[in-house]
Amino acid sequence: MVETSDEWIRTRTGMRERRIAAPGQGASDLAVAAARGALRAAELDADKLELIIVATFTPDRPLPATACYVQRKLGATNAAGFDLSIACTGFINALMTADSLVAGGMFRNALVIGTEVMSSVTDYQDRDSCVLFGDAAGAAVVGADASEGQILDHVVKIDGQGTEMISIPSGGSAAPLTADRLEARENFLRLSGRQVFKFAVNAIGDVVGEILLRNGYTIADVDLFVPHQANLRIIEAAATRLGIDMDRVIVNIDRYGNTSAASVPLALDEAASTGRLKRGDLVCLVAFGAGLSWGATLLRW
Ligand code: ACO
Repeated sequence: MVETSDEWIRTRTGMRERRIAAPGQGASDLAVAAARGALRAAELDADKLELIIVATFTPDRPLPATACYVQRKLGATNAAGFDLSIACTGFINALMTADSLVAGGMFRNALVIGTEVMSSVTDYQDRDSCVLFGDAAGAAVVGADASEGQILDHVVKIDGQGTEMISIPSGGSAAPLTADRLEARENFLRLSGRQVFKFAVNAIGDVVGEILLRNGYTIADVDLFVPHQANLRIIEAAATRLGIDMDRVIVNIDRYGNTSAASVPLALDEAASTGRLKRGDLVCLVAFGAGLSWGATLLRW
């Protein structure tokens, strides 16, 4: 499709494979598959679910919320729900929201999903971005029982000075899609890769430092880091800066590419299902992306 090579993609990004949704498969379809796994792991029936938060910027449709499709497909007849859109930091913001609402007693449990059909917003004529993205979903259940692990804290940030660094120029209310804008391919994601790269390394250091400091931990206390998978070189540069050995960092970008809001829960699930996570481990989730936005969650598994 574009002038590139397997060698360039592997050495510049660490990606070897990606998953692409079938035509007609929407964010809710991927979300439901992940949600079923999370409900099974939590031993929770769908009709006992009280809240569904779907983090995505590639919803099934602009209207209604993807959470409504997910609720119907899961048969979660007693659940409230909504979507949350802050790109790659979506899962961390959704987890923070769910955690606060459950801790505050508003809901007894919440299903938190990160789901993206990135292929629906990828411009396969733009080699600067089209090699980077994959489709995926990941999910987790937040409950009130602290004996089954505990979410300790969240740090989330945005900087609207960076709105142009990663964006889909048209298709929203400020620039509705017209034939001209479609012709100019403004319905697809655009990205200033080099700028985002620098921002990302700093952003990871910023929120990881802050969340550990304010909870009285150091880098050495963390058993596992689960970073957003945007580029292996970003993960390695941030780890070097923070003095983290890569043995304590989950990397699965080689098989999935950048899956935006799905990336952190996908990596967390892989860590859990492959035995990398043990009960009681201190885990730090960290993500960054369009907005600009960035954030971290600290939890006891
Ligand atoms: N194949 C071959 N060559 C390419 C490709 C490609 N697919 N893409 C770019 N190049 C070329 C460039 O044109 C450039 O050529 P030049 O030196 O002749 O000008 C050269 O490769 C190097 O380009 P750089 O942009 O400097 O490459 P860099 O090492 O920065 O890697 C990348 C680019 C992979 C995009 C990196 O900057 C990156 O990962 N940035 C972060 C992007 C990201 O993850 N964003 C996340 C947010 S997405 C969201 O929020 C939804």
